[in-house]
Amino acid sequence: MDDNKIFLSEKEIPKAWYNIQPDLPAPLLPPLNPKTGKPIGPEDLAPIFPMEIIKQEVSQERWIEIPDEVMDVYKIWRPTPLHRAVHLEKALGTPARIYYKNESVSPPGSHKPNTAVAQAYYNKMEGTKRICTETGAGQWGSALSFACNLFGLECTVYMVKVSYEQKPYRKSLMHVWGAEVHPSPTNLTNAGKSFLEKDPNTPGSLGMAISEAVEDAATHDDAKYSLGSVLNHVLLHQTIMGLEIKKQLEIAGDKADVIVGCVGGGSNFAGFSFPFVKDKLAGEDIEIIAIEPTSCPTLTKGMYRYDFGDVAQMTPLLKMYTLGHNFVPSPIHAGGLRYHGDAPLLCLLVNKGVISARAYHQNPTFEAALLFAKTEGIIPAPETAHAIKGAIDEAMKCKETGEEKCITIGFSGHGHFDLSAYDNYLAGNLEDYTYPKEKIEEALAELPDYEASLK
Ligand SMILES: Cc1ncc(COP(=O)(O)O)c(C=O)c1O
Repeated sequence: MDDNKIFLSEKEIPKAWYNIQPDLPAPLLPPLNPKTGKPIGPEDLAPIFPMEIIKQEVSQERWIEIPDEVMDVYKIWRPTPLHRAVHLEKALGTPARIYYKNESVSPPGSHKPNTAVAQAYYNKMEGTKRICTETGAGQWGSALSFACNLFGLECTVYMVKVSYEQKPYRKSLMHVWGAEVHPSPTNLTNAGKSFLEKDPNTPGSLGMAISEAVEDAATHDDAKYSLGSVLNHVLLHQTIMGLEIKKQLEIAGDKADVIVGCVGGGSNFAGFSFPFVKDKLAGEDIEIIAIEPTSCPTLTKGMYRYDFGDVAQMTPLLKMYTLGHNFVPSPIHAGGLRYHGDAPLLCLLVNKGVISARAYHQNPTFEAALLFAKTEGIIPAPETAHAIKGAIDEAMKCKETGEEKCITIGFSGHGHFDLSAYDNYLAGNLEDYTYPKEKIEEALAELPDYEASLK
């Protein structure tokens, strides 16, 4: 192969998303109603999601066609390039071939608009006027603001307070695209008021911001809620990335041995990897590695059980690896991978051993990000840096063994709005923090065993 960047034409953008549900190695347990503890039906979700999204959430169709209106918007930045990281390979002295799928070229700078655009479209079709959401570091909020703006919808974003203060420029992006942004917890919702009563100085968390956004949507008829990760339909929309990678590796005359990605709630990881999980389940030998921060070790240390998605216990219970829904991440951590749970689809595949998981501290992660920036030029988002660290470790193993593996990184986004985290790393101000197992056990001790009550 001669080219270091593999492009597809707009005609080659996949026409359908891949739904992994019919191919799972075990049945996915249903979400449970937070009040009754019983499996929920479409009518429970109707106040907060449009019906088409609810259908996708439970669909057993393997392929779901991408609507033309969504495709038209995708073409603003898709297909995204697959790069061969030749300069990184050279710096490492590895015989491995390293590729990265570059989602940083989207207007908001990450993979998040792949689902934001689809969700905004389905909402528009069903008459929604305003979409409410939460955001951590601001990538999701900016992606949804971008998408709502294109479909003429209003957008209200509850942004975790510590990020609102530390990352003012993502907020500016949301304002440019016309969204209203509030530092969460706020005094605007009952959930927000109750969090502030308990701790007026709380830095906030994704779990709290979700409670606020869900309450806002559920109490206003013309508003709906949108989630940027975790749920099945979000993961579905993201599979466009992995489907493109498969075509691009084929053009490069290569075949995936290792896929590495970072996990916050699991959406980019699933999007990059599920089309390869399909092949692995059909017998192909592919290693699929999920990377998370040691300070939020959901997959590596969490318990696999039903838990709420938010602090106020308003969302359905999901069967997932969890650190407990009261988890408040340490504010010293730089990245956005700080959700207490993970996508049920991803958790099931980790539980069945199809996907492996690993956790890294943030200092070695930033070290890897700097090496990437100095060799390949792009400054990765702190979340993406976890995937890069994982890929570098795999490439260094190849250096020891002499194996010439093909390693693909899910490059989920750039770090242009995260430069304060890079400043802190360069100044030696980032602390490595291991989340203690006891805290997880403590957080979950009070929670009833919902699965037992299902039997
Ligand atoms: C660039 C980037 N990568 C990864 C993530 C993690 O989210 P997810 O696991 O849903 O992809 C985020 C979350 O905001 C992000 O902004």
